[in-house]
Amino acid sequence: MPSVLTQTKENFESGRRSPVREERLEALTQRIGRALFRRLRSTAPSFWRLEKVEDSFMKLMMRDEDLRFRMLQFVDVFPALGGTRSVSRHLEEYLSSEEMGSGAGHGPLGRIARHFGRDLPGVRNITAATAQLAITRMGNHFIAGHTPEEVAVRIRSMEARGFHFTLDLLGEFVASEAQADEFARRYREMIEKFEDLLGPLPDALADQPHLQAPPRVNLSIKLSSLTSKFDPMDPEGTSAAVRERLRPLVRAAREHGAFINVDMEKYEFRETTLRIMLDLLDEEEFRGFPHFGTVAQAYLWDAEESLRWLLGELAARKQPMTIRLVKGAYWDSEQIWARQKDWPVPVITDKRLTDAMFERCTRILMEAAPLVRTAIASHNVRSVARALALRKMLSHPPEAFEVQMLYGMAGPIKDAVLRSGVPVRIYTPCGELLPGMSYLVRRILENTSNESFLRQRFSEGAAEEKLLASPHEPGPEDFEI
Ligand code: FAD
Ligand code: 2OP
Repeated sequence: MPSVLTQTKENFESGRRSPVREERLEALTQRIGRALFRRLRSTAPSFWRLEKVEDSFMKLMMRDEDLRFRMLQFVDVFPALGGTRSVSRHLEEYLSSEEMGSGAGHGPLGRIARHFGRDLPGVRNITAATAQLAITRMGNHFIAGHTPEEVAVRIRSMEARGFHFTLDLLGEFVASEAQADEFARRYREMIEKFEDLLGPLPDALADQPHLQAPPRVNLSIKLSSLTSKFDPMDPEGTSAAVRERLRPLVRAAREHGAFINVDMEKYEFRETTLRIMLDLLDEEEFRGFPHFGTVAQAYLWDAEESLRWLLGELAARKQPMTIRLVKGAYWDSEQIWARQKDWPVPVITDKRLTDAMFERCTRILMEAAPLVRTAIASHNVRSVARALALRKMLSHPPEAFEVQMLYGMAGPIKDAVLRSGVPVRIYTPCGELLPGMSYLVRRILENTSNESFLRQRFSEGAAEEKLLASPHEPGPEDFEI
């Protein structure tokens, strides 16, 4: 594997493409981007139409950076909290005014109280209950259902509109081997039974011939849920432990015609995760298994290097794979973890450079077709438009491409991309709020971040020209005085 951070900002920028080809590609990107914006309905996606408590809560977090940070720390401990009293106590701990060095009423609790129009006396219980309600409601927004049966109902209606799905069973970082067994059992049950729960394939999907190849049931799994001893310092032991539980899943996928995607987690786990997958695919019985996928994260300084390394490994094995390209979901946490361990920060900290890296990796992936199927996972119209432009310019095989988005996010963008004739797959979480709390925290961070495309487009009303600006060159805003 490439070593940490061998790719610096300087050599990343020096790898730009030839201007002529870039110009044509950029012109096509702009055309496709504008067409996508035209197709967007005038309504905001449902997340931005949340009402009352949770809407108000999210707006407050967007405005107040310090509060956002403290609330997110609080949400992290939320799974362990019991009733309203315990929530109150933790709120007090995480949001105490004294810690802020300000008088009562001017600290975070006071700000929440004022935001919800309450007087300070008795505010703690009111605020705790409100926070709990907002978190539960936000969970309902981003989680499709608690049981496979509930989720199947949602998926049936998504499929009827022409969308594909990938199921995510909420939870990660299991604490015991018994929990890992339970995860493996539930994954297997989904592979074996989910198609029956769904019933016949609706016409909207049966009519899309280029989609016949990938299986209908698609499962996204996190390898940290398959052993309580996921240890990057012991890659061999971790690989053996994870493969013990992964093998029966891949066998079941082969037998029942399902697809397995291995999600990418924190940076520290990346090398071990890739190694486990390749170890598995090197086993005689799984060699060449085509319905397998993983994820590349573009927000890492060494994203391009790591992707090229993986493609080389796949090419050497003639091993087909679907690779989902994301920017990365652990941006805030990676910085905290790196600081705690006194390691270099692995994530890019300039949003435009992450976007540029995403576009470079898009091209690298698409040039690896047909061995590699590309899944562009983004809610950013510019990032998606660039991929669609490349698809056209490279005469990329249509069956080797899809766009993916998350459940509960970017509804109008999903519709607009689907209407442009590109398959769209929705990442659909299933499970309870408590094991899903980390997932929920990541979605809250993503949506309320200053840099978020969705926030810029649907909350700040940023101009389309700015949103479509190339990350490779100075954008229009750079000329503003
Ligand atoms: P944008 O608003 O364009 O980008 C936001 C992203 O930019 C942030 O998430 C962050 O990555 C990056 N960023 C934010 N601020 C900065 C900054 N100041 N400097 C540099 N970069 C910054 N993520 C994973 O890690 N692993 C997965 O397996 C995974 N699976 C996914 C599957 C699907 C189907 C989808 C849609 C997403 C998945 N994600 C995964 C989450 C994904 O990483 C985020 O949804 C994505 O980063 C949001 O990017 P965007 O292009 O939609 O939005
Ligand atoms: C996450 O769990 C979607 O895999 C991504 O945040």
